This record gives sequence, C-alpha cells and structure tokens, in this order.
Amino acid sequence: MNLKGRDFLKLLDFTPEEIGYMLDLAADLKEKKKKGILTRWHEGKNVALIFEKTSTRTRCSFEVAAHDLGMGTTYLDPSGSQIGKKESIADTARVLSGMYEGIEYRGFGQDIVEELAKYAKVPVWNGLTNEFHPTQMLADLLTIREHFGYLENIHFTYMGDARYNMGNSLMVACAKMGMHFTACTAEKYFPDRRLVEECREIARNTGATITLTEDVEAGARGADVIYTDVWVSMGEPDEIWEERIRELSPYQVNRKVMELAGKKAVFMHCLPAFHDLNTKTGKEISEKFGIAEMEVTDEVFESEASIVFEEAENRMHTIKAVMAATLGVPDGCDARR
Ligand code: CP
Ligand code: NVA
Repeated sequence: MNLKGRDFLKLLDFTPEEIGYMLDLAADLKEKKKKGILTRWHEGKNVALIFEKTSTRTRCSFEVAAHDLGMGTTYLDPSGSQIGKKESIADTARVLSGMYEGIEYRGFGQDIVEELAKYAKVPVWNGLTNEFHPTQMLADLLTIREHFGYLENIHFTYMGDARYNMGNSLMVACAKMGMHFTACTAEKYFPDRRLVEECREIARNTGATITLTEDVEAGARGADVIYTDVWVSMGEPDEIWEERIRELSPYQVNRKVMELAGKKAVFMHCLPAFHDLNTKTGKEISEKFGIAEMEVTDEVFESEASIVFEEAENRMHTIKAVMAATLGVPDGCDARR
C-alpha cells in the first residue's frame, strides 16, 4: 500500500483497503505514542494549516501530529490570510507549494479544497468543508473498531442534520466499510439524493446498507452506534436556529433513544456539542427558546455509553496517519494488522 503524494479530500476517493490501511497505521502510531516511541519520520518538513472556520480538535490534532512527525507548522487563522479575498485559491496553492510539504484546508465549499489540491504540488488534506469531514471519519471508524473489535455489519444510526458534512461523510464511511447506515431524521434533512445513490452503489460491493427513515423507533432500535452533530453548523445563519430546533427536536439523542438502541450501544458525536448551558451559544439559545439541551441530553453525553472523548483523542492519531501516509511512510515503519 502506497499513498505517497495523494490528497485526502473525501473518503469517496479511497478504496476500503486504503481506508483500512490508514486505520491500521493510526492504530500503530497511537500505540507508539503511548509507549513513548518517537516517530519523527518527516523531520525538516513543514505544513501549512489554513482555517477559514474555527476549530479546537482539528487544529490541535494537525499541530500535535505534525510535531510528533518532526515537522513545523504555520497556522493561518480565519481572518489572517489573503486567501479568497486578495489572492485566488489557485495562486495560494502555488505559493504554499513552494514553502510547505503539505497543506491542510478547513473552509466552506468542497470545490475550494478540490481547487486547492488541483493547483498544489504537495498533498492537500481536507480539515472540513460544508460537504465533507474526512479526517473525522477516520477517527470515528478507529473508535468504533477499537470499541467493538470490527467495522463490518455494525449498525450505525445518525440522528439530526444528515444533509451536511457529518451526515454525508458518515454515510460514505459506512458504505465503504460494509456497515449498516441509517439516517434517522425529518425527510428534509436526509443526505443528498445523488450521494445516497452513489453510496448504495458502493454498498453493493461491500455488503453495507443505506436506510433513510423519519421513524425514531425504527431508526434507533438495535443500533450499535447512535451518532449526532450540532443542528446548526459553522457558517450557517443564526436565524435558522428556530426552524432547526422545531424540526430536529424529535431527533434529539436522549435516554429513550439509547434504550431503544440497547445496552451494548455507544453514543458518538464529532464535537463540539450542545448538551448543557456551559457555552455562550448554549446560554443564548436557552434564553431565546427555553431549551437547556439540544442535539443530545446531558444525561446521555455524560453516560457510560458515551465514547466522545476517546473519539476526540483519535482525531490526532488518525490525522497523523493521514499525513504520514501521504508524505510517505519510511521503509520498515509500515504496520498491517
Ligand atoms: N470535530 C471537529 O472537527 O472539531 P473542531 O471543530 O474543534 O476541529
Ligand atoms: N457540522 C459541524 C461539524 C463540526 C465539526 C459544522 O460544520 O460546524
């Protein structure tokens, strides 16, 4: 398996074997990190981290992972660069390619990161777009594999806004890895019809299934994983909150949903999550709409079934694997399970 020189823009671009390889590499890098074994495989290299939207996990993961691999980083914050304002994506890609060995990009349309990759001479890694969040997928798959011991035939239910980056990406991830994906939400929030068709086509070869349902009972019953994400994503207007709360409240992950799933089920969330009033936005929404929790109740978030912090840690190990694989794993350092 050799992914050297490849971009990492969306999971649709990778075979199940390639995804499995990155998960194995991540597991190996995680083990090495825990044992204190250094992996400074890319000493002397530098990577640029472009963030047109804010971040905690993704930024920290790229920075820590890059340093662990021996590389330097430059962080370009949502307001601190010329990108898109005074300089085109194509020009930015060519400028940064002369200084860096890799470029991470978090921003708006998927077309922007694809354009960046088209003009860059070094690997480009998608740190989240409106349509996809592929580095999150590797972390989620690794976390599920660690917890259950396998991925194939896992029953995975996504509740809430399934037509944005998380719903889209998780449907693709499940299709690729032979899992049973259910989007359990109001019809308006089902993933894009064309992407559903594409995933069903992939599923024919992997044994996955794709189900769309508005029925909470049917969607949650027997699920191994219950997953949700915020109801309003970065870049969406504040005015949309009222409508989202009204339309997505029936799909909140609460005790009833977890009971339907059963005792073995885990709860996952890419984070950040609105599960209490300990955030500025959470407080504002509570004052405006009179609700204390949104996509997940505090009870579920803090329960034994919740593996969200294991999932968050795995962002770093999997992002390290993506960078290591696309920049080239040195001979003898490869790990297959
Ligand atoms: N899950 C995730 O991408 O988190 P950040 O927005 O904090 O990077
Ligand atoms: N859907 C969320 C994911 C955050 C990691 C957003 O785009 O804001």
